[in-house]
Amino acid sequence: MRAIAVSEYGATPSAVELPRPEPGPGEILVKLVAAGLNPVDWKIVDGLLKDTVEASFPLVVGTDGAGVVAGTGPDVDRFAVGEQIFGQFRDVARGVGSYAEYAVVAQDAPLAPMPEGMIYSQAAAVPTAAMTGYTMVREAQVDAGRTVLVVGATGGVGQMAVQFAADLGARVIATAHPDMADELRRLGADETVDYGPGADVSEQVLAGHSGVDAVIDVVGGPQDVEHRAGLLRPGGAYVSSIGAVNPDKMAAQQLSGVNVHAGGSGDLLRVIAEMIDASRIRVAVHREVSLEEAPAALAAGRLGGARGKTVIRI
Ligand SMILES: NC(=O)c1ccc[n+]([C@@H]2O[C@H](COP(=O)([O-])OP(=O)(O)OC[C@H]3O[C@@H](n4cnc5c(N)ncnc54)[C@H](OP(=O)(O)O)[C@@H]3O)[C@@H](O)[C@H]2O)c1
Repeated sequence: MRAIAVSEYGATPSAVELPRPEPGPGEILVKLVAAGLNPVDWKIVDGLLKDTVEASFPLVVGTDGAGVVAGTGPDVDRFAVGEQIFGQFRDVARGVGSYAEYAVVAQDAPLAPMPEGMIYSQAAAVPTAAMTGYTMVREAQVDAGRTVLVVGATGGVGQMAVQFAADLGARVIATAHPDMADELRRLGADETVDYGPGADVSEQVLAGHSGVDAVIDVVGGPQDVEHRAGLLRPGGAYVSSIGAVNPDKMAAQQLSGVNVHAGGSGDLLRVIAEMIDASRIRVAVHREVSLEEAPAALAAGRLGGARGKTVIRI
C-alpha cells in the first residue's frame, strides 16, 4: 500500500510502499479515503512522543482519517465490513498512521460511524480539532451569557471552539486577521480582534468589555497566558491546548487554569457526529492535497498560516 512515512524521528516524511496490515483480535482494517492534517503529525515526526512510546519504524505519519471498514479480526463487534467510519488512526508503537491506504486499529480507538451525508474529506477534518475544541469549551465552563475569547480561532481547533462556544449561547470574541473576520462571524463569533504586528489583543478586548469569563488559547506561550489572564473576571478560566497554563498560579488569583490533553474517544466523536448531523457544527475544508503532496503540506503547516483544515485525498 502507498503511505507517507519516516524511517526515524527527525527524518523528512516521504511516499513509500508498505505491506497491507492484517487485523488481529479486536482490530479492524480500514481502507482510508481521506486523512486530516494536524500540527501533532509533524510534532510526532520531530519526536514529541519519543520519551513516552517506543515507536515502530517505518512510522506512518498522521492521526485523523475517514474510510471504509475493509476487514475485521476475531472478536470485533463494534464495526462491520463496509461501514463508513472516521476518527483517529494513530498507533505509534506499531508504526500506524492515517496518511496511508490502509490502517489497522483497535475497535475501541476513537472511532465512530461517519455523520449522515458527510463526504470523506470533511469527516477526516473533524476528529482531533473537534474533540479538542469541544473539550476546551467544556473545561472553560462556557455557558449562555458568558463571554469567551478564543485565541488562534482561525485554525482547526479554534474554529471548532468558536462553534461549540456559540452553540452553548456564549458571546464569542475570536482572534482573526481582517481577511478571516467574516468567516469567523459565520461560524458564530460575535466579534473579532486582530492580532497582527503592533495589535494588542487584550487592549482591543478591554476597549469593548470589562473583561471575559474564559480564554481558550491554542497558540499563546506562558508569557502570553500571564498577560491575557489579566482579562479574566473573578472565577474565570484559562484553557490552553499547548500546556502553557500554570494551574497553581491561576488558582492563587482565584482563577481556574487548565491544560487540555484531549485523548479523544469514540463516545465523544459520536456526540460530535450528532451535532454535525443536526447542523449545529459546520466543517470547512480549506485545502485538499494528494497523498504525494502530503509531505509538502506538512512542511507548510510548520510555518503557520492555517485557515481551517487541510485534508489529504488518498
Ligand atoms: N493538547 C491537545 O490535546 C491538542 C490537540 C489538538 C491540537 N493541539 C495543539 O494546539 C495547537 C493548535 O492546533 P490547531 O490544529 O488549531 O493548529 P492550526 O490549524 O495550525 O491553527 C493555529 C491558528 O492560530 C493562528 N495563530 C498563530 N499565532 C497566533 C497568534 N499569536 N494569535 C492568534 N492566532 C494565531 C494561526 O494563523 P497564523 O499562523 O496565520 O497566525 C492558525 O490559524 C497546536 O500547537 C496543536 O499541536 C493540542
